[in-house]
Amino acid sequence: MTAQITIRRPDDWHVHLRDGAMLKAVAGHTARQFARAIVMPNLTPPVTTVAAAEAYRQRILDALSEGSDFTPLMTCYLTDGADPAEIERGFEQGVFAACKLYPAHATTNSAHGVTDIRKMTQVLETMQRIGMPLLVHGEVTSRDVDIFDREAVFIDRILTPLVKDMPELKIVLEHITTAEAAEFVAASGPKIAATITPQHLIINRNAMFDGGIRPHAYCLPVAKREQHRLAVRKAAVSGSPKFFLGTDSAPHEIHRKESACGCAGIFNAPFALESYAQVFEDEGVLDRLEGFASEHGPNFYGLPLNEGTVTLKREEVTVPETMGEADIRLVPYHAGETLRWRFVD
Ligand code: NCD
Ligand code: ZN
Ligand code: ZN
Repeated sequence: MTAQITIRRPDDWHVHLRDGAMLKAVAGHTARQFARAIVMPNLTPPVTTVAAAEAYRQRILDALSEGSDFTPLMTCYLTDGADPAEIERGFEQGVFAACKLYPAHATTNSAHGVTDIRKMTQVLETMQRIGMPLLVHGEVTSRDVDIFDREAVFIDRILTPLVKDMPELKIVLEHITTAEAAEFVAASGPKIAATITPQHLIINRNAMFDGGIRPHAYCLPVAKREQHRLAVRKAAVSGSPKFFLGTDSAPHEIHRKESACGCAGIFNAPFALESYAQVFEDEGVLDRLEGFASEHGPNFYGLPLNEGTVTLKREEVTVPETMGEADIRLVPYHAGETLRWRFVD
């Protein structure tokens, strides 16, 4: 049995670091495991300007302990009023790594999101021209579409025409959860990729209703049927450069999760690599973890691979029931479970 694995330092291509006290409580977990991370812009108010992204990046750096060499990669939140010139300036100046498309009201803090993709033509054409990736929360929001079908319907109605209209636009379909998404991405050209979270490799929708309602298994897009989990898992461990690590770690305070209207989001940052490693080991392809975690993402974004390595030891680690700092209490993904790998450095 493999006793330890050492891989090139990985990156997280989709994370919510939040702001204020929550940022201070969670940023260190991501910075400990990952060299860089694509930081989601769904703050209140959302990050829509170069100046706001620069200020937020500084707040992230200030939240980390001295000596940390973590690099936050900033994203621009697209609204109906998004300015192509501002976006181009941010990308050219190296402030914005990508733009994020939230369909209005699809998920946490998406009220300012895009109401109609047709309003975005100028922005998307600019992004296509300058090679700036579009990151997509791929769910339609119509009330008449069942919540378990929202990703597949988004692919049909929005993504397929978009890819046809803008064949050179780089698109990352974020946090995929369905066989349809895995197939769409695999069948598309090299400009289309997807991120995959640990939870969507491990849980199916039963986890949300296991003996009672389980708010800590609730995130968006919601976990789907077992057949979808298996398809997403197959894609993740396939070795295809189109699939890469994006935790979608999305912390919400305990009382906001355990509530009559609980927030969507799973806080998986503290044990993210341990969680992924377990999946790759179970599939008998631990040797493919490095590609998924450390190579496919930078290659897609056109960024250099990280120098240095991290090591996971085959030692049991028990995930605490709650975590946090100061007044912030959080329930991590895998709370109370024992995992088989321990991140050492
Ligand atoms: C995210 C959040 O809380 O910001 N929640 C989630 O369930 N994934 C938003 C998102 O990524 O859609
Ligand atoms: Zn999302
Ligand atoms: Zn997210």
